[in-house]
Amino acid sequence: MLKNESIGYLDVSVPAGISLEKEIDALRKEKNAVILAHYYQTGAIQDIADFVGDSLALAQWAEKTTADVLVMCGVHFMGETAKILCPDKKVLVPDLNAGCSLADSCQACDFEKFIREHPGHTVISYVNTSAAVKALTDIVVTSTNARQIVESLPADEKIIFGPDRNLGNYINSLTGRNMLLWDGACHVHEEFSLEKILELKKHYPEAAVVAHPECRKPVLTVADFVGSTAALLNYTVKSEKKQFIVATESGVIHEMSKRSPEKTFIPAPPNDSTCACNECSFMRLNTMQKLYNCLKYEIPEIYVDEAIRQKAVKPIRRMLEISEKLNL
Ligand code: 13P
Ligand code: SF4
Repeated sequence: MLKNESIGYLDVSVPAGISLEKEIDALRKEKNAVILAHYYQTGAIQDIADFVGDSLALAQWAEKTTADVLVMCGVHFMGETAKILCPDKKVLVPDLNAGCSLADSCQACDFEKFIREHPGHTVISYVNTSAAVKALTDIVVTSTNARQIVESLPADEKIIFGPDRNLGNYINSLTGRNMLLWDGACHVHEEFSLEKILELKKHYPEAAVVAHPECRKPVLTVADFVGSTAALLNYTVKSEKKQFIVATESGVIHEMSKRSPEKTFIPAPPNDSTCACNECSFMRLNTMQKLYNCLKYEIPEIYVDEAIRQKAVKPIRRMLEISEKLNL
């Protein structure tokens, strides 16, 4: 039996001597498949993907593709979002164990209770949530559009924002709102340490610090620029600075270096480690071998309960409509 659902991916060895790049390319054509990858994937996966983007761009791309099979090289909620938008397509993720500590910090039953305890609120959820949490939500946001979507609501609107407390606090500080926050966080971004970044700044005094809004407030306070992965990437391309300390998952440095080979990118170190970079262990579960097997055997596939999907698609579509109007 090829299928090994208990471990979340196909544990089949690849024939010796084959070129994974060539085989993946041939399979993609044969099956009319597209490969989408998030910036936190390995360089090899980003290089072979048809499209590399942030969470918003991946959802926008998934919605528009005419392919029959969509391979989401990212984490589970990204595959779920694609499946919610494209129920008739086969959506695959190379390793189903690619979860997300932030999404896991907000279980649907607990979030439902929280919403019940605070009636009269509009519920905004970050895209890093399960389909079941999205089904309880009025508008989904990503780090690219969260500020604009919150600002598009009346100033006195009562809002619940979940699950990322750091992003929620950051949006509160930018907009002057007082959104009620769910107390969740991403284990990767929480690990960046102000002290270590300041230490690095001593070695690279000219470097600009760029940070993802999932980082804690002290890190965001010293950052020269805060934004989603795509926004950080664009900033490094446009900036006249030559060195950047990057406080987000270090996979994004692959594309930053490709776009600006003359610039230097220094991964901000995590707090409690001698390692010089910070990688999301979930994102890194996807490998070229698993991508090859997943395309070849068309498993593991993402399934979403139809009743949940019908509820979850509404707040995602609302986000996509507002983003289109705002040109995001
Ligand atoms: P963005 O790519 O939307 O910035 O999200 C970062 C992230 O943590 C994805 O899991
Ligand atoms: Fe989730 Fe954090 Fe990994 Fe992004 S980096 S997928 S938020 S655990």
